[in-house]
Amino acid sequence: MDARVAVLASGVGSNLQALLDDVVVGRKVALVVSDHSDSPALERARDARVKDVFLDPGKHESRDEYDRELLELLRGEDVTHVVLAGWMRILGPEVVEAYRWRMLNIHPSLLPAFPGDNAVKAAIDYGVKVAGVTVHFVEEQVDHGPIILQESIPVLRTDDEWELRARIQELEHRIYRVAIRAMLEDRIEVFGRYVTIDEAGGW
Ligand code: GRF
Repeated sequence: MDARVAVLASGVGSNLQALLDDVVVGRKVALVVSDHSDSPALERARDARVKDVFLDPGKHESRDEYDRELLELLRGEDVTHVVLAGWMRILGPEVVEAYRWRMLNIHPSLLPAFPGDNAVKAAIDYGVKVAGVTVHFVEEQVDHGPIILQESIPVLRTDDEWELRARIQELEHRIYRVAIRAMLEDRIEVFGRYVTIDEAGGW
């Protein structure tokens, strides 16, 4: 079956845009889901003629119930792979299990440093000299799954949170599609926490 990718995005959706613009990944994006009705990600999907769905957290009593509706939606759309792009909700074990090794997240730090929200600010406040981006598989524990790709950039003496964030986002837009292409082309192998990418398919 041809890959059908769902992108889950809560915010601005710049990563989603970079994926929609990618010649390989863009064609595989079949669904965009947001938990915010005013997320620009939904508009980006519409502009790209991709189905967009706002899944309202307010309508669900519990996270489990929300997850069940999400899973129903993904299965109903024959989604084969899931990509988190600024998705701000924790996904429960049912969703994680359903898409194990077929669901990726991107995080704006060199994990395991600075997991969770506000990673860029935390890195600046800590005074690190090197920052970066991590792409990893999604597991039950947040920001913890096996790492597929990491790239670093220097933190400049003049950087504030916003300048560093902008450079980190440029990096994100460049590397997320590389990891996603590898996943879609079955070029990733996982050995415990260790991940290899067969580069034959090209970077
Ligand atoms: C990115 O920095 C990503 O690493 C983090 O959330 C941010 C989303 O940005 N998980 P955008 O909505 O894709 O612009």
